[in-house]
Amino acid sequence: MARRKQIYEGKAKVLFEGPEAGTIVQYFKDDATAFNGGKKGTITGKGVLNNRISEYLFQKLNEIGIPTHFIRRLNMREQLVREVEIIPLEVVVRNTAAGSLSNRFGIPEGTQLPRSIVEYYYKKDELNDPLVSEEHITAFGWATVQELDELLAMALRINDYLSGLFLGIGIRLVDFKLEFGRLTHENGEIQIVLADEISPDNCRLWDLKTNEKMDKDRFRRDLGSVEEAYQEVARRLGILPES
Ligand code: C5P
Repeated sequence: MARRKQIYEGKAKVLFEGPEAGTIVQYFKDDATAFNGGKKGTITGKGVLNNRISEYLFQKLNEIGIPTHFIRRLNMREQLVREVEIIPLEVVVRNTAAGSLSNRFGIPEGTQLPRSIVEYYYKKDELNDPLVSEEHITAFGWATVQELDELLAMALRINDYLSGLFLGIGIRLVDFKLEFGRLTHENGEIQIVLADEISPDNCRLWDLKTNEKMDKDRFRRDLGSVEEAYQEVARRLGILPES
């Protein structure tokens, strides 16, 4: 990690300048936060597991034609990604009521939603990432109408694909959060690509049979066995971190 220029340190990841222009090294920490930093802790081995799980899922998404920032995994905690301009939105896709949706509308957790719901939150820690509408997004210039159309279509395709993938290993994809970025190609063309990570840190994953939580809610709600749950997700995906 030494000698490389750090670009950004987030709650769960650190970004460093990559070896070539236009690349970034994404380092996965064991740090865990919840409630916008209100709760802090460490989940031993989380960074290693999330690096592998996210690598696996991004590769699968690449294979079905979803453009992503992912290039390759470098080692246990790092992956090489393309530098993108992050769109300041958290795009949440929900299949089953849980978390803030249940709280906001008084719908019991576990209620199947009549159809998948996509929500946008403005990425701004100081404001606690407020829920925003498409009107806000386009009026304030966070994304254009065309960009929103594109990322919505991608989010729904990702949901279809990942729901099936997790179903196949006995896991219900309850909800998840995505981030997108603008990738500038050499010819000047700008493309919307999936960025950040997909891992049990930003998905709700429930065991299909027992409804047991296999995600960060174990940390948020003090349910214990957090690392074991992340490990079980990796095990069912057929990937286990190098020892
Ligand atoms: O808290 P809420 O119910 O809105 O979260 C919906 C989904 O988005 C959950 O899977 C959660 O892990 C994810 N999320 C996230 N980062 C946030 C907020 C939510 O990854 N800042």
